Amino acid sequence: MYSLGRNWMLILKLRNNIELECDLQLAEMETEHLLGCSLIPISSCELEDLVQQGVLSPTDLKHCRRGAVVGYRAVVETLNPALLFRRLSFIEIVVGYTSAETEHTNHVSQLFADVPASFVHIEFGSGKVLFRLVPLNAVAEWSDIAVKRAANPDEAVQIVQKVVQMVREGKSTVRWHKVAEQVLSARITTGHLFHGLHVYKAKFFPRMVRALINTFGSCESPYLLDPYAGSGTALTEASVIGIPSAGIDIDPLSVLIASAKALLLRGSTAALLEGTQITRDYVDMLRSKQLSLFYAREKHANYIALPSFLAKRVPPEVQEELLDDIAISLSAIEAVRGDFNVPLRVALSDAISRKIKFRFLGLGYGRFSLSITSGRVVEMFKSNLDYLAKTIAVWEWLRAAAHLHLPASEVRVGDARHLPFDDRTFDLIVTSPPYMPASSGRENYLKSKAPAMVALGIVGADEIEERERMLIGSVQRSCDVNGLPPRAREVVAWMASDEIRQVKAAATASYFADLAQSLREIRRVLRPGGRCAMVIARQHTFYRYKSREVVRVIDNTGIVSELAQVNGLDVEKILHVELNKQNTVARPRSLDAYYETILVLGRG
Ligand SMILES: C[S@@+](CC[C@H](N)C(=O)[O-])C[C@H]1O[C@@H](n2cnc3c(N)ncnc32)[C@H](O)[C@@H]1O
Repeated sequence: MYSLGRNWMLILKLRNNIELECDLQLAEMETEHLLGCSLIPISSCELEDLVQQGVLSPTDLKHCRRGAVVGYRAVVETLNPALLFRRLSFIEIVVGYTSAETEHTNHVSQLFADVPASFVHIEFGSGKVLFRLVPLNAVAEWSDIAVKRAANPDEAVQIVQKVVQMVREGKSTVRWHKVAEQVLSARITTGHLFHGLHVYKAKFFPRMVRALINTFGSCESPYLLDPYAGSGTALTEASVIGIPSAGIDIDPLSVLIASAKALLLRGSTAALLEGTQITRDYVDMLRSKQLSLFYAREKHANYIALPSFLAKRVPPEVQEELLDDIAISLSAIEAVRGDFNVPLRVALSDAISRKIKFRFLGLGYGRFSLSITSGRVVEMFKSNLDYLAKTIAVWEWLRAAAHLHLPASEVRVGDARHLPFDDRTFDLIVTSPPYMPASSGRENYLKSKAPAMVALGIVGADEIEERERMLIGSVQRSCDVNGLPPRAREVVAWMASDEIRQVKAAATASYFADLAQSLREIRRVLRPGGRCAMVIARQHTFYRYKSREVVRVIDNTGIVSELAQVNGLDVEKILHVELNKQNTVARPRSLDAYYETILVLGRG
């Protein structure tokens, strides 16, 4: 029997924005896993040869990744084009060819039946068939740049459509050339659909999560959990690549952000676009005093106070302006009924969080730095609405053109130490717990979101402290070292003996005890053979305050591995991932290389 799915020669061109070696490592790991075969790296010279041979088009030579490896070559025994389309994270275009005559057209159509026509180009000629396939996630990454360049939602959609067409066909058109070049050459790695909906400290890189799901999910459609869901990156990325998921987080603002993304992905785009427009019009009416601002302020009087620890530090005239802007925005959002106002509330929360930025510093005495940007919250809110409308429009097109059916995903408020799920429910956990409180600036996750949470009425100003105490990693928690394994215990003992750091010793003990409890829960809800990919800090470095000399480096990977093992999980793999993070406030020696670790744990 003639089988066209076999023995295809594939060329996979990498996205240009893969800069770090570890990203390349993830790209390779994921691509090999999805193809089921090993890859041969190719250089730009080899790409040129492939153009000479007529396999690639001259436009494929443009905006290649910098570095020795620009793509891969592979020979696959069995080709699954639909899987490559939906799952590949790091590839801009897959070109594949095999020998076939024109009479095999029907076989080709069958093989590509589940790949939507807008994303694949197939041609027959001189005894072979050749296809060019644009993976979904490359398009989703381009959407961010297209949205930033476009004047309105229609233009954003047109830009994305044109870029897809140009890459798919390997031809550029004069009219769209410039903007397509901007989209294709952009180096940003995080602008994936709704990922930028809200500022969020320590969120996942979308494609890292996809690589983890693609590589460590043991079955074709693993049921995924993120017990520290945060802004919902793992849940969003799982949904886009077709994996069902559930998530919890103890912080209600995080759950609101993750719910907004889930709604944006699945909801009626027409209703979402309409809601965004209504809100924008309403803001303009309130600002032009066609509607009474007095009424808006009265109505929201309970919410629109700054938490007291901040109010003392913000000048009264700034507070007045803030309260007006928040009242206008909240009143406008109220014009939109039902769940569709969730993304709008998140867009406002983002504007407030960008206006008032602060982070906690030092050693746990509540010292923080505060900066208030000059832009007005209401203007930032409006520009968030514009960005949102354009992204919704692009997503509407992409979802329809790619025939995407999104699997179920739920997110709710919950505690990772007491997971609200039955034993053996999940195949895969991809997560990242909070950092330990011993490292500077990380002791108050919730307080740093307080202005937005209070303004949106998510928590009362007087509840913040109490909620903060519930968070894993909070400096306000404490316990003794009994029950901790040796490495964790030694670190706590060292801190307790250090004059400067003893203030955080009990909180650090509690952090390790909480993490241990969470790891027990992770084991309980995993099915046998299931895995947990946990992203943690590789190490924690303690500095002498003034000289910035290193006092001690703590092997966090070793400690968490030990906590996992004593709680019944196997450490299957350890990957170190270098990050491009430069933050002199968070880390005094900010130019030192900074690594996170992906710990792959298995339930045997
Ligand atoms: C590093 S962030 C996760 C960010 C997430 N990966 C993302 O992409 O947005 C850690 C999260 O753990 C949450 N958290 C802290 N204590 C928790 C607990 N006891 N149960 C569940 N979540 C908790 C925090 O609210 C925070 O959102």
